[in-house]
Amino acid sequence: MQELIRVSNLNYHYTDAPAVLHNINLLINEGEYIALIGPNGCGKTTLIRHFNALLQPSSGDVSICGLNTRSTKNILEIRRLVGMIFQNPDNQIVGMSVEEDVAFGPGNLGLPAQEMRRRVQAALEMTGLQGLEKRPPHTLSGGQKQLLALAGMLAMEPKMIALDEPTASLDPDGKNKVLSLLKDLNSRGIGIIHVTHNMEEAALADRVLVMEKGEIIADGSAANILSRVEWLKSLGLAPPRITELLWTLQQQGEVLAGNIFTVEAAAKEIGALLKRLRGFEHV
Ligand SMILES: Nc1ncnc2c1ncn2[C@@H]1O[C@H](COP(=O)(O)OP(=O)(O)OP(=O)(O)O)[C@@H](O)[C@H]1O
Ligand SMILES: [Mg+2]
Repeated sequence: MQELIRVSNLNYHYTDAPAVLHNINLLINEGEYIALIGPNGCGKTTLIRHFNALLQPSSGDVSICGLNTRSTKNILEIRRLVGMIFQNPDNQIVGMSVEEDVAFGPGNLGLPAQEMRRRVQAALEMTGLQGLEKRPPHTLSGGQKQLLALAGMLAMEPKMIALDEPTASLDPDGKNKVLSLLKDLNSRGIGIIHVTHNMEEAALADRVLVMEKGEIIADGSAANILSRVEWLKSLGLAPPRITELLWTLQQQGEVLAGNIFTVEAAAKEIGALLKRLRGFEHV
C-alpha cells in the first residue's frame, strides 16, 4: 500500500480562537474509501482543509505523497493530488460552459492541447456529462453541478478526492448519482474521503473515522463503527435506520446479527429468522 496522506501531531486554531484540532495522527493510503463522521463543529471541515493545503497546521505536519503542505513550492502539486469538493456546487463553478469549466483546472497545468481534450472528454464520460459540453453550468440541476465539480477534479487526475457533505443540498436522484460515482471512482483506484452526517452514506465506505471535539476518537471498518448503535447515539449521530431496527429487535431478545447496515444484509438476516420461525410452527 502506497502512503498518500500522513498527519503528524496536527494542532490547529483559527486566528485568536481556541484550538479546534488536537494532536491528530493519521495515515491514509492510496485508494482508500473513507467516511469522516462526527457531531457539528467537531472539526471535520477544518481537518480535510489541511489535506490540500487550504489550511496550514498551527503545529505538527501534514504531507501528501511525502510533500509537506507547509512548503509553498509543493502547493500546486498537492492541490492536483487531492481534489476538494464542497457542499454547494454553485460556489465551485468557474466556466461559462460545461467543457470550459472542466478544462479550467488542467488549463493551469500547462498541458498540450490534445492531452487537455483527452482529459476533459474522459472526465465528462466518467461523470456521465457527455453531450452537455456546451451547456451553461447555471442551467444544470444541483446534482449535475456537483458531477461537474467532480469532473473538474477528475481532469486533474487526482489520487484522492475529499468531499465535504457533497450531497447535503441535492435531491434523492442527484444524491444517488453522486454516491454511485464515488463508488465507481474508487473502483478505478481513486481515493475518497467523504465527510457526511448521513450514516447510510458512511456505510458505503470501507473505513470510518469518527471525530469529536477536535480529536479522532475511533478509526475502524464501517461494519465495526456503524454497528455501535448506542455509542453513535451518545455522540448525537443517527445510526443507519436499518442497523437501529435490527439492534432494537436484538434488545427485544431476537437472535439477530448486530452489525448490519445495508437493506440487502438486513433482508437476508430477517428472511433467515422468518424461516426459523416457520420451522417452529410446523413442529
Ligand atoms: N473560519 C473560522 N473561524 C473561526 N472558527 C471557526 C471557523 N470555521 C470553523 N470554526 C470553528 O471550528 C470548529 C470546528 O469547525 P468545523 O467547521 O471544522 O466543524 P465540522 O465538524 O465541519 O462541523 P459541521 O458538521 O457543522 O460542518 C467549530 O467550533 C467552529 O465554530
Ligand atoms: Mg463541516
